[in-house]
Amino acid sequence: MKSVPALRSIRLAGERPAADGMLTDVLRGLAAKPKRLPSKYLYDARGSELFERICEQPEYYLTRTELAIMRESIGGIADALGPDVRLVEYGSGSGLKTRLLLGSLTTPAAYVPVEISRVALLASVARLARAFPHIEMLPVCADFTRPFALPRVSRAPRRTVVYFPGSTLGNFEADEALRLLRQMRAEAGQHGGVLFGIDLVKDRATLEAAYNDAAGVTAGFTLNLLARLNRELGADFDLAAFRHRARWHPLAERIETDIVSARAQDVHIDGHTFHFDGGEPMRVEVSCKYTPDGFARMAARAGLRVAGAWTDPARQFSVQWLRVV
Ligand code: TRP
Repeated sequence: MKSVPALRSIRLAGERPAADGMLTDVLRGLAAKPKRLPSKYLYDARGSELFERICEQPEYYLTRTELAIMRESIGGIADALGPDVRLVEYGSGSGLKTRLLLGSLTTPAAYVPVEISRVALLASVARLARAFPHIEMLPVCADFTRPFALPRVSRAPRRTVVYFPGSTLGNFEADEALRLLRQMRAEAGQHGGVLFGIDLVKDRATLEAAYNDAAGVTAGFTLNLLARLNRELGADFDLAAFRHRARWHPLAERIETDIVSARAQDVHIDGHTFHFDGGEPMRVEVSCKYTPDGFARMAARAGLRVAGAWTDPARQFSVQWLRVV
């Protein structure tokens, strides 16, 4: 193993979120009508691995299209964000888009990834520290859906930019998304801004294929959540008796991903019994899609104004730069 001197200077801020939060969340979700499971628990080690593979599936156009837009338009994006930025990323992704951004920004002041998984956070920041030894790395281990304190940067930044790629905003219900936008606006502060990757509304066939890939990787990804609950919470889900389903809801403009019980059955967790009817769905994820106008209207309600927008030739996806009003 080669030693990486730069890493010793990296401090990790924030506390690992309490493990019993998962049991509480899961019990509450299964007691709700209709049943639901919080999607943030999809990303254990196996889930994160499967998600990387989803991004490589031919039907899942989101990741590669967003990257193509970034590659094509990085000059304009870097100009819009300006020099000496403190870049705060909500979640630490595969790092490719982040690398492109950090490599193209003019003298960025610091990179602050905010990530719930300590392992994923440390792995991604270690890679980035090697690639960008001159940029101060200030990882924060926290659930970005709750307010958190931004670490102090040695060199005064000109502005704070929150980066939220991957259309992850779409994974929040409308009211939560609005709350998150307001929190981002507060984190970015005066003169700051937010750079989003958002997936655009399009035809049903393209959307449903993206969330039901032929190789079954997405199905494996959602069902892995049940395997995790069995392992970590001692639940007794019969994995063969549940199915993955993702459908486009045109009025809500979103993909709704459910795990459906194939038959009537009972599941036990921590002394509680949950009954499932045959065909009963359990909601695991929503993936809201946007029209550029709809997105601008929602952002305006959070005090953010669109100051730049880039898209691919087929207008499948968009990178949007919003300034704090
Ligand atoms: N943010 C991704 C999306 O909504 C995550 C994702 C892809 C996902 N496929 C999924 C989440 C299937 C749950 C189930 O596109």
